[in-house]
Amino acid sequence: MSNKRFQGFIPECCEQFSVRFFILPEFKEVDMFLSLAQSRRSIRKYQSKPVEPEKIDSLVEALLRAPTSRGKNSWEFVVVTDSALLQKLSSAKPHGASFLKNAALGIVVCANPQISDVWIEDASIASTFIHLAAASLGLGSCWIQIRERMHDDTQTAEAFISEILNLPAHIKVVSIVAIGYPDERKSAHPRESLPYDKVSLNNYGVLYSGRS
Ligand SMILES: Cc1cc2nc3c(=O)[nH]c(=O)nc-3n(C[C@H](O)[C@H](O)[C@H](O)COP(=O)(O)O)c2cc1C
Repeated sequence: MSNKRFQGFIPECCEQFSVRFFILPEFKEVDMFLSLAQSRRSIRKYQSKPVEPEKIDSLVEALLRAPTSRGKNSWEFVVVTDSALLQKLSSAKPHGASFLKNAALGIVVCANPQISDVWIEDASIASTFIHLAAASLGLGSCWIQIRERMHDDTQTAEAFISEILNLPAHIKVVSIVAIGYPDERKSAHPRESLPYDKVSLNNYGVLYSGRS
């Protein structure tokens, strides 16, 4: 089944993951994922309309289905829908976070390093799941990096957020994923622009040329 036909179909028709399976039973899951990966972009401009609670439920379900090392679930999440809180969180760092104030929600992706030594990986995968799940629901989203970022000269972005959300001291903050109905359209990255020179076949430096 051609991806092209499927690609145009996703955003309009699919409200929930389950619906898509029922409408298009003949499509393979791999086609669905590739189509999503091909069309997703980071979206930083949002309409002022809220995201329906059912869609937020779907996002939460998706993030809780993210794989974790040894199934230890080292992550924790704070779903923020309060606009005053979103406004505050949007100043967590001086650059690359301001658009959060216009998002319908933000999901603060946290982790507990006491549970797993690979908490960064666990939380990063969950952040990616949120981003992709949002796209599948017709929502725009963008990762806001928090770990290793500063709020100002003296306070980390993480400490700033911890104060606002009352996070316990042992809980780390990896990212915030801003989510809302898109108010910008971005075209997919063309296949020709993909950095295939980053991919070797069997030996480093022997370029993979399968798609060329
Ligand atoms: C680990 C990571 C951190 C990111 N941090 C930010 C950020 O703090 N602010 C922002 O606006 N975008 C951030 N992004 C989004 C990237 O800028 C974006 O994915 C990249 O420019 C490619 O654009 P695209 O997602 O539309 O393909 C981040 C993405 C990743 C994967």
